[in-house]
Amino acid sequence: MLSFAAVVGLACFIYGLLSMGGSSSSIEICDPDIGGQIIMCPLCDQVCDYWRLNSTCLASKVSHLFDNESTVFFAIFMGIWVTLFLEFWKQRQARLEYEWDLVDFEEEQQQHQLRPEFEAMCKHRKMNPVTKEMEPHMPLHRRIPWYFVSGATVTLWVSIFKKHYHCFDRQSY
Ligand SMILES: *[C@@H]1O[C@H](CO)[C@@H](O)[C@H](O)[C@H]1NC(C)=O
Repeated sequence: MLSFAAVVGLACFIYGLLSMGGSSSSIEICDPDIGGQIIMCPLCDQVCDYWRLNSTCLASKVSHLFDNESTVFFAIFMGIWVTLFLEFWKQRQARLEYEWDLVDFEEEQQQHQLRPEFEAMCKHRKMNPVTKEMEPHMPLHRRIPWYFVSGATVTLWVSIFKKHYHCFDRQSY
């Protein structure tokens, strides 16, 4: 399945290679009268200078290799490919399950099991309205400390990420 995707991907790459000269955005960026006249703002605060758009001429050509008209086709192709892959995989899995005599094995494995540490903490029981079975239940006031812990963890990581994202944002625009 992967070699199939690789052949199509390679074909799209070769298309990008062949159409590199004709890409209108590269032509305009590289043209001394168009891209050469567009002055861009500095990329950073103190040490960077103004620059001309045509200095990204090579980069725009290289990015055309991976980002051209055929990329749209490739994206659609990969969407279909992944669906087919999953379906074929399911089929193969079912066949192996049957051959190895493991057809009811998965059911045993996937039975709803609680982590024993969690179950020990749940003293209360409550009826599940769907299955009509008594299940361990943790009342709200016991859950609040855990909400605080997970809320604080998420806030910490979001603020770290935001700080870095902010730096990144200022450098690239
Ligand atoms: C960009 O354009 C300027 C002015 O038109 C020219 O002097 C310079 O050589 C060009 N640079 C590149 C990389 O094409």
